[in-house]
Amino acid sequence: MCGIVGYVGKPPVVQTLLDCLGRLEYRGYDSAGIAVVNDKGIEIRKRVGKIKELVASIKQKPLDGERLGISHSRWATHGEPTEVNAHPHLDCRGELALVHNGIVENYAELKARLLGQGHRFRSQTDTEVIAHLVEEHAKRLPLAEAFRSALKELRGSYALCLIAKRDPTHLYGARAGSPLIVGLGKGEAFLASDVPAVLARTRRVIYLNEQEVVELSTSGVKLTTLNGAPITRKPSTVSWDLSAAQKEGYDHFMLKEIVEQPSAVEQTLCTRLDAAKGQIAFDRRTRTFLSRLTSQEKFVIIACGTAYHAGLVGEYMLEELAHVPVDVDLASEFRYRAPMLDRDTTVIAITQSGETADTLAGVRLAKEQGAKVLAICNVMGSSIPREADAVIYTHAGPEIAVASTKAYTSQLTVLYLLTLSLAKRRGLVTSARLRELLTTLGRLPKLIERALEVEPAIKRIARRYARARDFYYLGRRYNFPSALEGALKLKEICPRIHAEGYAAGEMKHGPISLIRKGWPVVFLATDSAVYEKVVSNIEEVRARKGECLIIASEGDRAIRRHADALITVPKTEELFSPILAAIPLQLLAYHIARLNGCDIDQPPNLAKSVTVE
Ligand code: G6P
Repeated sequence: MCGIVGYVGKPPVVQTLLDCLGRLEYRGYDSAGIAVVNDKGIEIRKRVGKIKELVASIKQKPLDGERLGISHSRWATHGEPTEVNAHPHLDCRGELALVHNGIVENYAELKARLLGQGHRFRSQTDTEVIAHLVEEHAKRLPLAEAFRSALKELRGSYALCLIAKRDPTHLYGARAGSPLIVGLGKGEAFLASDVPAVLARTRRVIYLNEQEVVELSTSGVKLTTLNGAPITRKPSTVSWDLSAAQKEGYDHFMLKEIVEQPSAVEQTLCTRLDAAKGQIAFDRRTRTFLSRLTSQEKFVIIACGTAYHAGLVGEYMLEELAHVPVDVDLASEFRYRAPMLDRDTTVIAITQSGETADTLAGVRLAKEQGAKVLAICNVMGSSIPREADAVIYTHAGPEIAVASTKAYTSQLTVLYLLTLSLAKRRGLVTSARLRELLTTLGRLPKLIERALEVEPAIKRIARRYARARDFYYLGRRYNFPSALEGALKLKEICPRIHAEGYAAGEMKHGPISLIRKGWPVVFLATDSAVYEKVVSNIEEVRARKGECLIIASEGDRAIRRHADALITVPKTEELFSPILAAIPLQLLAYHIARLNGCDIDQPPNLAKSVTVE
């Protein structure tokens, strides 16, 4: 959702800004723009559509910057995706320009006041208000102070980047509720929404905290509070390099990330699992956190999208093996309920990005009500882990494709570790059984590798069903969330298709009435306590001439006669089956979307990280 890049350094500024912005394309956007300071003052260019449109326009009519500039990819919130509404936005005199990610909630009231003061607006955006507000304060104050004073008037969320004609050596930035990082290179500095934007130039970054303001020049960084009080923070070094954030020969990031799952899960496990000794080791903070859990502890898992589905799988395992009562809530609902939280409640926030607005709001609500918060997150230094009491990082590496794949299987892996560690602490599992489960957990990367071998079969099945326009996904127990996730994958990346996931037992309460000849129904029928019940559901679909695409366990011969198309994954304990079932589901969505000519990594209207409500 909205990508921001700011740069202060050396020429070619425009090229640097465009290269960096291109690395944020995954966030999802509908227009793009750039502004630079040069001998003419501030020059600006914007285009609707992809960044390549902006690049083409600059090729046609070059734009030059000397050492300072900002760029932006916009995901429209206030006002349609038009050139006028695209960022950067200018003040009345075109002497300062800014880009913004977030929502200014009090923009209407600020705009009315600024109109009264004689400001002229060009766009319908909330962002333009900020440019005029800074202009107004800058009539009386030096730019840095004017910027801070304007920020104090804003309600809502922002990551901002500002440049001004009168100060051609400084780049200003600030964050509240939307991500922004500082990248420190040699004789150059960056502001960006996310680390991949700057990785080609530097791995030294500073993560801005809430309500912090930064002033960057080629000679240094000045970090302050909104009141101008200085803050000292050492840069951190990003542990992954650019190759992790590049396609490396794959046609799409999504496919690369699907294939990376054995190593992503290995990374999630590697420092934590010692199967031979029957041990799980979390870091000190997490260990202390877990030791504070009471015998009456209840868990509330909050998350959005794919992370929510991981949470649903977590509910089954935590209740069954660790005997903890669990509720799973969509963060967007949780924050507007009146949840019954107390000191015996742990809210587990699952999030790839660590920036999802609803999950973050849920975390804040939980803390206000005295609950403890544990984050399961992929992006180091992001907002949710910083606000949580403890965090278990998934270490899946950067996930670029909008549709989440390796983050999901890594989230499941963390939930396995957590469940088994709690089961052990509570004495609910014998050491022999624990060792058995941990051995299987340690073998998951290999099993996922084997599951990936289904790709040629999936390609054939995808060809057969690529023209279908409706799909159902059905599963029960641990694989009910798999059904939801399989359907979500397909509808996210193939907007022409309607896909619904259901609990197979619910089929008779509605969905079955739609099934007609040729309607594809993907069944999760791996080895489980409810296997026979799922087979009965399959028969009910067949009786109505639906087409059954069945995901079953290797070696299940009996299932063949029920299947119009059969995909098998390695046989494992039911608990671990969702992680293996995820592989064919992801590949099926990928190949169907590909055959339909969809924009797989950046599906229309979707964003990787939903930082506004
Ligand atoms: C967006 C993404 C999904 C993701 C969801 C939650 O919708 O497109 O892939 O599952 O947000 O994101 P989070 O970063 O909190 O896991």
